[in-house]
Amino acid sequence: MRFYTVSPLIARVTSQQVDVGGYRLPKGTWLWMAPGALSRDAASFPDPGAFRPERFDPACEEQRRRHPCAHIPFGVGPRACVGQRFALQEVKLAMVHLYRRFVFRRSPRMDTPPELEFGIVLSFRRGVRLVAVERQRRRSSSTDA
Ligand code: HEM
Repeated sequence: MRFYTVSPLIARVTSQQVDVGGYRLPKGTWLWMAPGALSRDAASFPDPGAFRPERFDPACEEQRRRHPCAHIPFGVGPRACVGQRFALQEVKLAMVHLYRRFVFRRSPRMDTPPELEFGIVLSFRRGVRLVAVERQRRRSSSTDA
């Protein structure tokens, strides 16, 4: 979610004149925010290219120091994604079910990094190829008997 932020851009329109970061924005101004760029900002994520999921551990100093809006893949505020909890639960369930049966390896047919396509949502132009290797099934005690 940090490297491949699904919604690279989110937008707002000012409903009244407002001052933001030293700029005066008249009513009706479009504002574009870039969660994908935020998530790679070294000020919030030192060594931003490193895959270190433990950065998000609530006990981790980096996590505690980070601004709450430094990572906003589901947007922020009253118009944030209503499906956030559902989506996270769905991803976890899907991964648990898949990883119980398979391990995934990078496909030899994927010899270059995946090509990204930026739109309202981020996608992979030619998909991501993986090899699914079926795990060896453990024999249950009843099978042994
Ligand atoms: C990984 C999955 C998902 C991601 C990364 C995601 C991300 C987002 C983002 C960035 C926004 C805009 C938030 C903003 O402007 O501040 C949004 C809005 C929204 N999302 Fe999601 N979303 C996901 C899954 C879902 C699912 C599963 C549902 C429905 C079951 C859903 C329903 C919505 C709706 C209805 C809005 C519009 C909310 C509003 O304008 O008040 N999303 N989502």
